[in-house]
Amino acid sequence: MVKPELVVLTGAGMSAESGISTFRDSGGLWDKYPVMDVASANGFARNPALVHEFYNTRRRELLGVRPNSGHSGLVELEKWYDVKVITQNVDDLHERAGSSSVLHLHGELMKVRSMRHPERIYTLTPDNLSTSPDSRDEYGDPVRPHIVFFQEAVPNIEPAIDIMQQADVVVIIGTSMAVYPAAGLVNYARRGVPVYYIDPNPAPVPDNITVIRATATEGVARLIEMLRP
Ligand code: APR
Repeated sequence: MVKPELVVLTGAGMSAESGISTFRDSGGLWDKYPVMDVASANGFARNPALVHEFYNTRRRELLGVRPNSGHSGLVELEKWYDVKVITQNVDDLHERAGSSSVLHLHGELMKVRSMRHPERIYTLTPDNLSTSPDSRDEYGDPVRPHIVFFQEAVPNIEPAIDIMQQADVVVIIGTSMAVYPAAGLVNYARRGVPVYYIDPNPAPVPDNITVIRATATEGVARLIEMLRP
């Protein structure tokens, strides 16, 4: 029996209850760091050491956190749905929770790639997670965070659109819908496909979207009750 496809678009709010700060909430990451210095292509060109250190700090934080019940609730939904997660998050909490299908739009914190051969991607380990402008891969080439900086293309937006166009149900969790092209993905859902948006402080969305004003853990628990057969 083919399971209906449930597509979940997640943002930083998905990981908030795991202790990872969001970007635009008060006290968020962009309150502490000048975003264009630490997360843009120009910033990386200007001061690569600062950018490497920013991601080293976030990798160290990642070691101390675990998936929350929102992440595991999405895994539970795989009993009845073919769940495909499309995330703006660079953490690996969806994978660690056990989600079978995770597509990262903005890169992955625990990965770096060759600057000369970008197809050479390396996964860092907990005892080797710091990089610097002097880091070299086995070919002697410099490496960079495997992160989509602002001012860079989002290569995974094409496969994400394909996934969204196949969705039978769409759920958006914990994103301010402020950054494109991710924020425009929901527009690729076929007409009539139900769309739910879980967020304690939701951004304005068209009224054909069902807003569940709740945190990820509470909202996913409610969603399971709504979507289970
Ligand atoms: N549960 C669910 N959602 C939450 C929670 C929570 N416990 N706490 C906060 N939120 C919501 C906020 O209300 C907000 O709508 O999470 C959203 C966080 O928004 P942002 O901080 O803008 O994060 P995000 O939407 O993922 O940012 C998109 O911007 O800086 C870039 O590349 C970065 O991927 C990021 C992108």
